[in-house]
Amino acid sequence: MSRYVERFNVVERVLHWTLVVAFFILVFTGLGLYARTFFGYFDFFGGPQQGILFHKWAGVVFFTSSLLLALSHLKELFTFDQDDVLWLKKLGGYLSKEHEDIPQGKFNCGQKLFGIFSLVGTLVMGITGIIIWDPAAFGRGLTQFSLMLHALFFTLFMMGVVVHIYLTTLGNPGTISSMLYGHVTKTWAKAHAVKWYRKVQKG
Ligand code: HEM
Repeated sequence: MSRYVERFNVVERVLHWTLVVAFFILVFTGLGLYARTFFGYFDFFGGPQQGILFHKWAGVVFFTSSLLLALSHLKELFTFDQDDVLWLKKLGGYLSKEHEDIPQGKFNCGQKLFGIFSLVGTLVMGITGIIIWDPAAFGRGLTQFSLMLHALFFTLFMMGVVVHIYLTTLGNPGTISSMLYGHVTKTWAKAHAVKWYRKVQKG
């Protein structure tokens, strides 16, 4: 009998790692655009002109892959029950020293909220990005408002992604295997997503 349960198929994993690469290109080129201190980052991309081009096209790749990944999990992301409310009240037990056993589905409540934020953030970054791309077509007021939203969501994304990276690596050992190999161990599944595990076992 296998020790593993399948969690993400190859399409979902390719979408996730594509958006991750695009995200980091966006961060470094975006910082170069944002402040003089980070202007030197453009050197990694062959200069400011090319850096801006990288930013625009990485934006298109990020928008598409992130949207497709969210669409593939839409039902799980927007389904909440009493256990999610309990998870939220106790913040998943992360702030308590005692072990908290709150049964969760494929994604815990925090992951669902991050997934929904990521979807909304992708839409906001994409739409405001198009407006900033061609300011002449949209006018000064809308462009300035878009620049403000773009910077705000960039900051929120950075905060969310730092927590996301910690929780999917050091914070919860064994989780990264779901995005690297597509599967997790049954022990991981029972500990982190027991309702999903039972469903998968039932077929
Ligand atoms: C090095 C960086 C990253 C690592 C190591 C990483 C790792 C992971 C892992 C292991 C999962 C699956 C979690 C599970 O099985 O429950 C996951 C899911 C996901 N990741 Fe990432 N990720 C990274 C960056 C990002 C970035 C930059 C974004 C978006 C901007 C993102 C968005 C998502 C989303 C939407 C999911 C599915 C839902 C969720 O778990 O919240 N990831 N990631």
